[in-house]
Amino acid sequence: MKLNSIVPWGRSLAEYRAMFMLTDEDLEKSILGCSDGPASFNAELTELGGEVVSVDPVYQFSRDEIAHRIDEVAGEVLSEVEKHHDNYIWTQIPSVEALAATRMGTMSTFLKDYETGCRHGRYLNASLPQLPFAEGEFDLALCSHFLFLYSDHLDCDFHFTALKELGRIAREIRIYPLVTLDGSPSPHLPKILALLENESWQFTRQSVDYRFQKGADDMLVISTTEGI
Ligand SMILES: C[S@@+](CC[C@H](N)C(=O)[O-])C[C@H]1O[C@@H](n2cnc3c(N)ncnc32)[C@H](O)[C@@H]1O
Repeated sequence: MKLNSIVPWGRSLAEYRAMFMLTDEDLEKSILGCSDGPASFNAELTELGGEVVSVDPVYQFSRDEIAHRIDEVAGEVLSEVEKHHDNYIWTQIPSVEALAATRMGTMSTFLKDYETGCRHGRYLNASLPQLPFAEGEFDLALCSHFLFLYSDHLDCDFHFTALKELGRIAREIRIYPLVTLDGSPSPHLPKILALLENESWQFTRQSVDYRFQKGADDMLVISTTEGI
């Protein structure tokens, strides 16, 4: 799949649960959603009483500007998926039409929550590799469809600096997927895993329930404090 830039495209709480194997107990933790963009994860989890802050550079824009940008990129994303139909597993999401309906519904939930969430400090305009949080401020940091996926856009140094930053502010980090836009394993992953060996952190690759992009069947879990 080829995209000219890093696009705003959003997934739901149910998808986050499957991508990150989130348990009910995990959802009670203080969570940082890094690169959440127009995902409805924050809106839905907040509605359930969860404690979550999302960061993304797209939050520098107004609700209407984000809605406009989503409309601009939706056609491009869906036609790329259609063009590369065989790179996806059409079981949990049965068709491109179902994908469009699911994603637009999810992003509409985000848009409805966005202005309230900004007022409450749940959507913050911030970008990796530097985030405006104190050490150990979160129990868990999640990063979906940004790190590793955009390996063609972001180099290995960026990835490692970003992981160090997430590890500074959260006790545990989970990253999904570990493949690039075309479904091949991220070329940065071997070097990143080697660099992580030199840290005092523990890490593992863990199989997940989410299935859509072929090859994207595990996440990277990093614990900065204790054994996984
Ligand atoms: C494909 S979207 C993923 C949205 C959401 N995580 C999901 O899975 O539904 C990628 C997001 O990464 C964000 N992004 C781009 N550069 C970033 C950076 N330097 N730090 C954090 N997020 C960034 C984009 O704005 C976009 O919202």
